[in-house]
Amino acid sequence: MTIDPTAVPLRVPRPALRLPLLATSLALALLAAPPLVPQAAAQLAEMPAGAPRLLNQPFLQLPGADSVRVVWHTNFPGVRHELIWGEGRNRQRAAASTERMQRMLEDGSSRSPATAGLGLNQVVERPVWRHEAVATGLVADRRVPYRVRSIAADGSVHISEEFSLQPLPRPGQPLKILLTSDQQNRYGFPAAMQKVQELFGSIDAVFFAGDYVDNPRQASEWFDRFDPAWLNVPGNPGARPFPNTRPAFFPSLQGTYQDLFPQFPWRGGAVLQHAVKYGAIGNHEQPGRHRPNAQVAVNNGTSVANISYMDNDPQPRWVAEMRYESVKDSVNPAGDPAVREQWIRDNSHDWETFRQMWAHPQGPEGEQYYWQRYGDVAVVALNVSRVWRTWTVREQDRGKFTEFFSENRNPAEWGFGDFHFERFDRQSPQFAWLQGVLASPEFRSARYRVVLAHHSVAGLGDNAAPAHADNVMLIDFNAGDGIVQTKTVRLPADTPGRIAVFKAEVEPMLNQIVRVRYEYPLGEDIWKRDVEPLLIDAGVQLVHIGHSHVYSHVRSPLAPTLNYLETSSAGNSFGAFWTQADGTAWRNARRGGNTGLFAAGSPWNVANYPRTDDPHGRLPQWPTLANPMQLWDGEALPVPFVASNDISTFSVLDTGIGAVRSFAVNLRNPAAPAIEFDRIPLLPAPVPTRAPGPTRR
Ligand SMILES: [Fe+2]
Ligand SMILES: [Fe+2]
Repeated sequence: MTIDPTAVPLRVPRPALRLPLLATSLALALLAAPPLVPQAAAQLAEMPAGAPRLLNQPFLQLPGADSVRVVWHTNFPGVRHELIWGEGRNRQRAAASTERMQRMLEDGSSRSPATAGLGLNQVVERPVWRHEAVATGLVADRRVPYRVRSIAADGSVHISEEFSLQPLPRPGQPLKILLTSDQQNRYGFPAAMQKVQELFGSIDAVFFAGDYVDNPRQASEWFDRFDPAWLNVPGNPGARPFPNTRPAFFPSLQGTYQDLFPQFPWRGGAVLQHAVKYGAIGNHEQPGRHRPNAQVAVNNGTSVANISYMDNDPQPRWVAEMRYESVKDSVNPAGDPAVREQWIRDNSHDWETFRQMWAHPQGPEGEQYYWQRYGDVAVVALNVSRVWRTWTVREQDRGKFTEFFSENRNPAEWGFGDFHFERFDRQSPQFAWLQGVLASPEFRSARYRVVLAHHSVAGLGDNAAPAHADNVMLIDFNAGDGIVQTKTVRLPADTPGRIAVFKAEVEPMLNQIVRVRYEYPLGEDIWKRDVEPLLIDAGVQLVHIGHSHVYSHVRSPLAPTLNYLETSSAGNSFGAFWTQADGTAWRNARRGGNTGLFAAGSPWNVANYPRTDDPHGRLPQWPTLANPMQLWDGEALPVPFVASNDISTFSVLDTGIGAVRSFAVNLRNPAAPAIEFDRIPLLPAPVPTRAPGPTRR
């Protein structure tokens, strides 16, 4: 491939309109500042952009009372980008603002026509530009046609197909809202989205409960993931066709997948073009430490920091803040706050691609948590996500329960277990904000009250465990004369407290450490202890979750009107953990494949890890209309979930009938229609007129 290592990406300032002040000053500072780290993205080689084209169809964001934003992406900066909406004499045009997406990357793992033949053996930048224009003068409950047009520097003109847009709904307007999550290039998404379009036409909104793609900085996962090698494995008769397929995000949710892969039996659905989308941050929205192409000496070997490695390499922000203090004189001699912030993000984690890609309402910390009154629906998006690490306990694993054995005395390469990216405990800013929102008349007067939270805070799915507690460090250390003792270290929730305790209790004993372990106390689940009582107080009827890639509906034992729903069995499932009516474990399920982890003599407390059939004390609900696992997956006994690689599910909140309708698609039979298998009424929940008081235990 031809790469110009001196190429400097063109940066087009984004309108200040939707940028937090910090990010704006940060971007400006970065333009002027020298590279922060040797591997800073601006120094990465850049892959060829290819012939000018639209990278996706336009989609809708951030509706107002008489407006809505339209966003699309191209592989060229262009000379003009515009939105055209309305009909006849009412046709209007608006110029788009344009910015280059930062840290859109590809590497040797990329599968895309854009990277085919490049022989990528390192992480490179992929040029992607984002365009955003605002349609104005709109009237609620009245759709108007629109399309977008981009003109490249070579004079070529690129026009989208025509779709429809509308502003915020009016009160009482019947709405159809798609509930989904965890696209992550999963096989079943084109099929499910195609059925959405066939059954519902233009839906009004999408509530996406996090995990958009696996690696948010890998551009092809969003726009054009395809590998011709998938054609070589057509699949067996009666099994799903082309089973190796991993469809990209936008083609799945925009109905264009057959443009990339004509032989695939499903084209996807034209969903995002007509619907506004609100989404929550999942663990996959927060890639880890940014050190592209670095050689990392770890785990008795050397790893290269490719996209996947960086994605799986977050450390808690407090750790980066602690480390910054020891390097600040060299990395930031001028003491620039923006440089400090970027260094800390680069050395912990961030959700910057989420911020750049979408346009959500603004909460007190930008888009990471926010709420919106959308017609008769109030929707709150929370960031309760935490890193996912392996269940296994082996010397070579940095997982939920241990560090790499070789790095036990090297905190620079610790993972710190499954840590939460953002606080949501009762002492946190996010919790205080949530209390205020839930107490507001605008929220309480909504007929339907919905919370988006990526993590499976309840349910039968694999990832519903361990408990959502801040983990406790258990440090096995050499106390002398070969005697190993265990020291328990509880880190406070606040950053100064964590740093102080770590420095006082952990650092002095580093040279004595035999093993670092983590425990997740079941009784300290932050969601159950702090958040759920608040939601019950406010009459929330639906918590839309993701993360386990199953269909699972459970209810709170404290309030039968509070439903938890995950509806993302979409071509791969991490399993469900259930004891059948005959007393046997469903398909020999063991949470996280943790066989032996909690056997006799284990130093972990097995009482902290819910039993196979215990969804954290919540009440599993049975599908009311049909049981897809019995119909299509060979189950002899009914089960209260869908967890199959061959069945895709999706749900639609239909405010016209006051219920969530759920559908299943048989991926083994592309000609078969979807079936409706469950219907969950969202019952009126009692809402005290008073504001919620202090959180109950
Ligand atoms: Fe996921
Ligand atoms: Fe997840």
